[in-house]
Amino acid sequence: MSCTLEAFAADCKAKLITEPGPGGREKIREMLERVLADDEFMRTHFGNDRDSERNVLYRDPELGFCIVAHTYTKGIAASPHHHGPAWAIYGQAEGITEMTDWRLVQEPVDGKAGKVAAERTYTLNPGDAKVYNEGDIHSPQWEGLTRLLRIEGQDMTTVRRDPLEPIA
Ligand SMILES: [Fe+2]
Repeated sequence: MSCTLEAFAADCKAKLITEPGPGGREKIREMLERVLADDEFMRTHFGNDRDSERNVLYRDPELGFCIVAHTYTKGIAASPHHHGPAWAIYGQAEGITEMTDWRLVQEPVDGKAGKVAAERTYTLNPGDAKVYNEGDIHSPQWEGLTRLLRIEGQDMTTVRRDPLEPIA
């Protein structure tokens, strides 16, 4: 039976209340992978008039976490970043993400970009989900049509982030 957005959001919320740390997020990641494999759920929330780079499907009024559908129709190479005080779980719905994890070498100071060094690059394939906890630095890259279902600990449009740049 297909999962509904309401049921998925309620399951995420229950888990975040009982286990708010990284362990709970890992369980939400497993739930997200099950949703990514749910064709009916994905058809309901992606495609045609529902496609946009940021379509917030659910925003929790108490905890502030968001479930967001992203559709990118052209290639993007994002800069290294973390999510400030928030965590995020990336779920790959369609296309492939080439993700690089980075290590902080030098903190950003007074608006000057911090320095980061690349640690590893890997791919997220359709059906894969991965947790990025607070401070985990990463840079996704896509080519062509890519769809993601992401869960953000808080709405990332409201979070200010210091710039980071790769060491030469
Ligand atoms: Fe990110």
